[in-house]
Amino acid sequence: MDYVKIGVIGIGNMGSSHVKFIGEMKNGKVTAVCDINPDAFKRIDEKVRANIACFTNSDEFFAKADVDLVIIAVPHYDHVDLAIKAMEAGKHIIVEKPISVHKLEAERLIAEAKKYPNLKKSLMFNQRIIPAHQKIKKLIDNGELGKITRVNWIITDWFRSQKYYDSGDWRASWRGEGGGVLINQCPHQLDLMQWFFGLPCKVRAAVKFGKYHDIEVEDEVNAYLEYADGKVGNFIASTGEMPGTNRLEITAEKGRLVYENGKIEFIRNEVETSTFCKTTKKTFGISDNWKCEIPAVDDRVSKHRQIIENVANAILKDTPLVAPMEEGIRGLELGNSMLLSGLLDKTIELPIDSKVFAAELEKLIAASRYVKKTVVQDADNSGFANSFH
Ligand SMILES: NC(=O)c1ccc[n+]([C@@H]2O[C@H](COP(=O)([O-])OP(=O)(O)OC[C@H]3O[C@@H](n4cnc5c(N)ncnc54)[C@H](O)[C@@H]3O)[C@@H](O)[C@H]2O)c1
Repeated sequence: MDYVKIGVIGIGNMGSSHVKFIGEMKNGKVTAVCDINPDAFKRIDEKVRANIACFTNSDEFFAKADVDLVIIAVPHYDHVDLAIKAMEAGKHIIVEKPISVHKLEAERLIAEAKKYPNLKKSLMFNQRIIPAHQKIKKLIDNGELGKITRVNWIITDWFRSQKYYDSGDWRASWRGEGGGVLINQCPHQLDLMQWFFGLPCKVRAAVKFGKYHDIEVEDEVNAYLEYADGKVGNFIASTGEMPGTNRLEITAEKGRLVYENGKIEFIRNEVETSTFCKTTKKTFGISDNWKCEIPAVDDRVSKHRQIIENVANAILKDTPLVAPMEEGIRGLELGNSMLLSGLLDKTIELPIDSKVFAAELEKLIAASRYVKKTVVQDADNSGFANSFH
């Protein structure tokens, strides 16, 4: 086999983009798609559509579609059941982020996945591929920054309009989506936070629900994190600010790294902070330092496509995965802990009890004002490609 036959379930904004990305790949081809709404297939280029099988029922898709790998790009609550069905049908999987809405469901999926050691299972963490993120990971892992003492991530450039929230009947409700900015926009940064820095042991968050939009879920989060090694963190997210900021600042013994506007800048201390503090003869002032601009060249190739190519290579050549599915539970736990802290108005210790979180979510779902509407998908999703960073 020199290419992988790929099926995509959910041909909405993301799934239809995946079909396009796969069209640019050498090691993969779309052979089948599935969506409960047959109108969704119109999003696929006519010439492509003529050569693939279209299903409106996932059971039929799993029984009949000639595919090796299935990409699951449906609303979050269905990720786990469809991923399990795919593995039962012997398919490799890429699950869209988030792995699930809450930790208990992710635990269920990961337990099931253990039954299929020969299948490749990945999560669509396309932001792990961004060269700057890869570079920051390398700088941290190679000890270039020294011991990290504080991390701040302000990620408020996820602006979403009311029209966006009204564009899908599942969006921004406890019953339909299971959360807001933490479960929809921020799974990437929550994953990167844990990928770079590990998980904190304590989280305290202020979470605002429907502060900027007519929605019942959270659209602003201010979280304070404490790590077992003494490091602290701040994570600030919003979908209600314009133009918004995406700034990651890492304070470490060897200096300060800032990643903003696609550029990494590192101000390097000549003497490590704690050594300088103990040994300097000066009453005021800091160590000499120098500014380094760290290049991280972007190849402009879609990061989603690169994740799919990575999984196809893993299937064909047994190469390692960039984003193994099981790792998705870590960023999810971080997001769940922030939401839980906001809901209960108290500090949460990690690991969280997944049953406690599930029970809290259940209460929100029971009180949800969400009513299923028939929403005609907006034909104009032209801004979508620029909306996922
Ligand atoms: N990785 C990224 O950068 C990224 C970006 C956007 C969205 N996403 C993820 O992709 C998923 C889908 O988001 P979207 O914006 O494309 O949503 P969307 O509403 O545009 O599309 C969802 C599609 O799934 C179909 N669907 C719903 N339930 C189904 C089922 N059980 N079986 C088959 N089809 C079903 C709907 O009819 C719809 O066409 C979400 O989980 C979201 O978090 C990821």
